[in-house]
Amino acid sequence: MAGPVEGRGAATTVRPLGRAEATFGADSSSRSHRHGTSALAAVSATSPAVAVEPLTEELWPALLDLFGRGGASNGCWCMYWVLGPEYHKRPRSQNQQALRHAAVDGPAPGLLALDADGTALGWCRLTPRAALPWLNTKKDLAPVDDLPVWSIPCFYVRGRARGQRVMTALIEAAVEQARVAAAPAVEAYPIDTSVAGATRNRFPGTARAFERAGFRVVARRAPDRPIMRYSFT
Ligand SMILES: CC(C)(COP(=O)(O)OP(=O)(O)OC[C@H]1O[C@@H](n2cnc3c(N)ncnc32)[C@H](O)[C@@H]1OP(=O)(O)O)[C@@H](O)C(=O)NCCC(=O)NCCS
Repeated sequence: MAGPVEGRGAATTVRPLGRAEATFGADSSSRSHRHGTSALAAVSATSPAVAVEPLTEELWPALLDLFGRGGASNGCWCMYWVLGPEYHKRPRSQNQQALRHAAVDGPAPGLLALDADGTALGWCRLTPRAALPWLNTKKDLAPVDDLPVWSIPCFYVRGRARGQRVMTALIEAAVEQARVAAAPAVEAYPIDTSVAGATRNRFPGTARAFERAGFRVVARRAPDRPIMRYSFT
């Protein structure tokens, strides 16, 4: 197990999502190559020294180690925004398998932040909004327009690594991934922690972190739950 991530200011590296790998000539056969500069782009000036990579079959063991037996939270395995509360009503192993299939079959369903030893410190889902139908059932989070945006709906950061801007590193990397995937914009549904009485459930991320990464509020139908976007157009 690696030590804690380094302080702010070090570079985050990011590898493109599965489909785009050929374009970048990435070779997933060795960790040293994957962490080498030939296939990676430095993207961060504010987050810790982590490499952010799409979740592939090769990285599935790292995700298992991060999520643990609970599947990050309550057996979810990041299925909430896909299924809603249905994820509770089926065996947890089915949620785990669904995420694994997405990782194996591609395109990658999200990103892992890894320390220098390859230990996963954090996860965010990153996918076209269209793959997250549960968002549409929430009137506060209904689509703002018809743009085929991508979404960052959820995070999970390892307990010992929290408060060190791993979430921030994931956001910055997600923007680059969405840009490479030619998304018109990438969207998030964070908690505005400055609003009195804001939920303490921070898994969608915090508005301040997204704001720092260049996201802007495009809708606010609930005081503590803005829809924020980073547009590429
Ligand atoms: C919420 C969470 C993702 C934040 O990750 P993190 O890497 O610790 O966040 P960062 O260090 O990048 O913090 C960025 C900013 O958000 C703030 N922040 C982070 N967690 C916060 C919290 N719980 N409450 C208020 N603010 C918080 C930080 O103070 C920081 O603010 P700053 O920019 O003003 O300095 C992390 O605490 C977590 O994973 N929680 C569990 C979520 C969960 O259960 N997910 C599974 C769902 S199935």
